[in-house]
Amino acid sequence: MRLLFLGDMVGRSGRVAVQERLPGLIADHGIDFTIVNGENAAGGFGITEAILNDTLSAGADVVTTGNHVWDQREALVFADRQTRFLRPANYPKGTPGHGMGVYEAKNGARVMVSNIMGRVFMAPDLDDPFACAEAQLADGGLGAAFDAVVFDFHAEATSEKMCFGHFVDGRASLVVGTHTHTPTADHQVLSGGTAYLSDAGMCGDYDSSLGMDKEEPLNRFLNKIPKGRFEAATGAATICGVVVEISDRTGLAERVAPLRIGPRLEETSPDWW
Ligand code: FE2
Repeated sequence: MRLLFLGDMVGRSGRVAVQERLPGLIADHGIDFTIVNGENAAGGFGITEAILNDTLSAGADVVTTGNHVWDQREALVFADRQTRFLRPANYPKGTPGHGMGVYEAKNGARVMVSNIMGRVFMAPDLDDPFACAEAQLADGGLGAAFDAVVFDFHAEATSEKMCFGHFVDGRASLVVGTHTHTPTADHQVLSGGTAYLSDAGMCGDYDSSLGMDKEEPLNRFLNKIPKGRFEAATGAATICGVVVEISDRTGLAERVAPLRIGPRLEETSPDWW
């Protein structure tokens, strides 16, 4: 099966790009399952239910999040009823919403998707992400309960991301990092068969600071006194993500390649699709 993951969709610019391009990508390239990280979709801060529904309507099967998940307070309410919406699984017991789910792909495969947040240089400081993954995989995992397993590991530190990848290597189809909004070039199939990428990058305007208008972030570095609020940048977005070909037999990755479409970064797409 073919799986597409798109990195953090930032603001209107990111949303427009995803909504315009995703249906065509899915149709043209026979994508069986699509995940979009949406934690910055509402002006850079969280996601509303209307945006979530628009993203699902555009073709996303699951929308993941991270540290900004509750920035729009309505998420605390809709997280319980929206089963295709994931918040980090390692929040304390009793937190609204779902940290993982099992979904049917277009080809009939059972895809487990988990959203876990790292702890290095991250706030809030959540439960142990490694123990969280271990518990999620305890019921058989790949080849037994699930035909594919994907982790969106939302974290700052590449060391924590890589170690998490190695921790579940051979037990997941894909581990993809999110949160830094900067795509890394280390896509690979790990020795145990798990596709890995430290960060997918963002779907947003790269003429910015991480998708936000660059003026105020720069001001805070220079002057240390806020002048205004962070606002999402409004230029055309570049779509960033990763595509994985997953074995129908083993659930492990056969090929992995980055995807970048848009005006700012050098475009790339799998040469095998
Ligand atoms: Fe984040």
